[in-house]
Amino acid sequence: MPVGSGEACAVVLAAGEGKRLKSSLPKVLHRIAGRSLLEHVLAALDDLTLAERVVVVSPRAREGGGSLPEDLTLVVQDPPRGTGDAVRVGLDALPQEGVVLVLPGDTPLVEGATLARLLTLRESTGAAAALVSAHVHDARGYGRVVRGRDDTVERIVEEADATETERQIDEINGSIYAFDIASLREVLTALDADNAQGELYLTDAVALLRERGEKVVALRTRGDEISGVNSRAQLAKAAALLRERSAERWMDEGVTIVDPATTYIDPTVSIGKDAVIHPFTFLEGETSIGDRAEVGPQTRIVDSVVGDGANVTFAVVRGSRIGADATVGPFASLRPGTQLGRGSRLGTFVETKNTTLGDDSKANHLAYLGDAQVGSGVNIGAGTITCNWDGVEKHQTVIDDDAYIASDTMLVAPLHIGKKAATGAGAVVRDDVPDGALAVGVPARIIEGKGDRMKKDDNPEAGRGG
Ligand code: UD1
Ligand code: CA
Repeated sequence: MPVGSGEACAVVLAAGEGKRLKSSLPKVLHRIAGRSLLEHVLAALDDLTLAERVVVVSPRAREGGGSLPEDLTLVVQDPPRGTGDAVRVGLDALPQEGVVLVLPGDTPLVEGATLARLLTLRESTGAAAALVSAHVHDARGYGRVVRGRDDTVERIVEEADATETERQIDEINGSIYAFDIASLREVLTALDADNAQGELYLTDAVALLRERGEKVVALRTRGDEISGVNSRAQLAKAAALLRERSAERWMDEGVTIVDPATTYIDPTVSIGKDAVIHPFTFLEGETSIGDRAEVGPQTRIVDSVVGDGANVTFAVVRGSRIGADATVGPFASLRPGTQLGRGSRLGTFVETKNTTLGDDSKANHLAYLGDAQVGSGVNIGAGTITCNWDGVEKHQTVIDDDAYIASDTMLVAPLHIGKKAATGAGAVVRDDVPDGALAVGVPARIIEGKGDRMKKDDNPEAGRGG
């Protein structure tokens, strides 16, 4: 446990309107790299042991915050009158004394280790406040840290209120602080809105603490880490930085990422050693990629498992499990409920849904397999379709081990194809096929006036489509 964090609380400021995003969605709920901005900040807090986590939200964000963890205290700030007012609202939910970490909900790159260092610095220096700062090339839009002759932090000046000389300062305020709660409470009552934005600035707390003879210290970090998201352009920039960071993490773990700039890996994903991720690949949600697997280029995998040594290329895979050494693509779509056995293959223009394919089974080209249970060693010929939908209900197709389904077979479900059974090219199979039997031919007949699927009950012959 990091020193000094045991009794600390945290307040995340997330009630601002985010006007500069021009969005109907509250800013902190915008998603990048698999999480909302707010969830990224909360994930950094997960690295600490905190007594309490309070999030200050707008009434709108509270309604849209369904995915927030349950052990949070949400307090509503309405209307948003500035960061100083937001902290005051947040402190209502906290003890009178102790230490509080205050951070904005719009700095998704902040890391838990930095927050732990900030708490340690405040404690070891006996300061009333410690803040995170950084020297940057482009300080535009940020508050600047004004230091005194002896290099101590004197105050923060917002860009809109800064003089020309103050704007030259390249040390920015990250808006991330550790405060002694009792001291903070006292100075918050003295904040006023006499500034360019007519808001209660939390940043003014720094000068007020200094006037009271208290100490304020700064922890310098990398500018990237405290970059805030105030616009769509900054949203994209933060996403790129998170992308870079996650690619670096997996490369350190022994994964080859051919082009980190075009590889999108959510923080919830895991990847095995010697896996190779090719460009334009999206790994999302609860996804795990096995050792030596090869994924991409141009592949999207969501909430799925890819087995060791499997190869998935130009494919979309959702809610599926791909067995070890299986091959998928190019141009395959695996919809939820697909399970592919070891060494199996799904080739070009094959779509599956709610379908199991056993070990070493193949559907190499142009097929639709829905609600099908296919055994091992089965060949599914080009153009095969499980006609699982009769216009009203879904039906199952079961194909036993070592069956051979010839090209362009229509399997009209419910249907059972026996072990080592076969079909002839173009067969339309409506009746179960016993083990070892061959089904050939097309039984289609024309029945006038009986095409309406909704009248199925009085029309047992109604066609079952694909
Ligand atoms: C703030 C700091 C600035 C710092 C920058 C770092 C102030 C006055 N300025 O500026 O010094 O360099 O962050 O990113 O603090 N919020 C509320 N309620 C409000 C207003 C804001 O909850 O009434 C929340 C916002 O949702 C946001 C955070 O506080 O998550 C910061 O507000 P924002 O308006 O983005 O402040 P900046 O102008 O970026
Ligand atoms: Ca901001």
